[in-house]
Amino acid sequence: MKVAVFSTHPFDRRFFDDANAAATRRHILTFLDARLDARSALLAAGHQAVCVFVNDRLDSATLEVLAEQGVRLLALRSAGFNHVDLVAAAQLGLSVARVPAYSPDAIAEHTVAMILTLNRKIHKAYARIREGNFALDGLLGFDLRGRTVGIAGTGKIGLNVARIMRGFDCEVIAYDPFPDEAGLATVGGRYVPWKQLLEQSDILSLHCPLNAETRHLVDAAAIAQMKENVMLINTSRGAVVDTRALINGLKNGRIGYVGLDVYEEEEGLFFADLSDQPIQDDVFARLLTFPNVLITGHQGFFTQEALTAIAETTIANISAFEENGKPLYPVRPAGIKGPEYRECIYVVAGWPIAFSVTA
Ligand code: NAI
Repeated sequence: MKVAVFSTHPFDRRFFDDANAAATRRHILTFLDARLDARSALLAAGHQAVCVFVNDRLDSATLEVLAEQGVRLLALRSAGFNHVDLVAAAQLGLSVARVPAYSPDAIAEHTVAMILTLNRKIHKAYARIREGNFALDGLLGFDLRGRTVGIAGTGKIGLNVARIMRGFDCEVIAYDPFPDEAGLATVGGRYVPWKQLLEQSDILSLHCPLNAETRHLVDAAAIAQMKENVMLINTSRGAVVDTRALINGLKNGRIGYVGLDVYEEEEGLFFADLSDQPIQDDVFARLLTFPNVLITGHQGFFTQEALTAIAETTIANISAFEENGKPLYPVRPAGIKGPEYRECIYVVAGWPIAFSVTA
C-alpha cells in the first residue's frame, strides 16, 4: 500500500523503515516534512493511506481533500484521536486507525522526571555549575517521602505514575470517573472525589484524555481549591489546563511548580526548531518567564521502545487494512454502524459513550 507519512522527522523515518523492513507485508512509505492540513493534503495524491501525528490537522476540510485524492485510511501514530473529526471521516468513508498503547512507561517516567527536576531544581543546577556558580541558594527542594500525589485519570499512564510514586513512599490518591479499583489498589493508591484530589494533593498529575468533559478541567475554580504551593504536572493534552488561569495561579503564588509536556496551542510550535524566530504566542512566552515552570515539547512518548511499538503497530494497522479492509485498531464514532462495529470488544475507558474502538 502507498502511504503518505506527514510531519516526518528523521527519527520517524528510521523507526518506520525498520518496522516496514521487518514486516511480512511491506508498504511504500512517502516521508513528508509537511504538517497535514487542507492545503498539504494534496500531497497525498496517489496514496491509499496517510500516517499522521498529534499536531496534524484532520478536520473535515482536510479529510475532504484526502478523500478526493483517493485516501481510504488515516493511520494515526498516536493513542489520542482528539485531533480527528471522526464523524466527517466516517461520512467520507475513511477508516481511522490508532496505536492504543505503545509504552505507558515512557510517559509515566517522563512525568516523574519532571517532578524530580522541578523539586530539586536540576535544570537550574545544571546551568549554574557550568557557569562556575556552586551556590545552593534557590535550589532548596523537599522530600518526596510522605507527600501526597494526586493522579487525575488512572488509565495505563496514570497507574504507572502511581506505581512509581509509591516507590518514593508517597501517598497516592486518584480521581477517575471510571475507576479501576483493583488496578489502583494493586499499586497502593486510593480513589477520592475530584474536590478532595484538588484539596489534598501536594503534586497533581494529569493523565486523562482530552474530550468535551476534560477541556479546561483545570481552570481558575479548580486552581482556587488546590493546596498552596502545589506542583501541577500535565503530560496529557494541553487543553486539559486553562493556560491563562494557570498563569494567574503562578502569579498569585497558589501554584508553586508547573511541569508541562503539552500546551493548548502547541500545534505549529512543538516539534519544530524555531530558535531563529521570535515566539509569536504571548501566552506561551509568558509561561517561559516563570522560574518555577518547566516545559518540554511533547516528548513524553519519545523513547526507543515507544517509537518501535508505534511504528510496528502502525504498519500492522496498514497491513490489516490492505488485507481485509479493516485496521487492527480502528476508531469509530458511536452510532455509525458498519461491519467492524459488531466486532468492537471494548469501549475506550476515557470516552465510552461517544466512541467505540476495537482492541
Ligand atoms: P487511558 O485511556 O488508558 O486512560 C485515561 C484515563 O482517564 C481513563 O481511565 C479515563 O477513565 C480517565 N478519565 C476520563 N475522563 C476523566 C476525567 N474527567 N477526570 C479524570 N480522569 C478521567 O489513556 P493513557 O494511555 O493512560 O493516556 C492518558 C493521556 O496521556 C492520553 O489521553 C493522551 O492524551 C496522553 N498522552 C500523552 C503523551 C505524551 O507524549 N505526552 C503520549 C501518550 C498519551
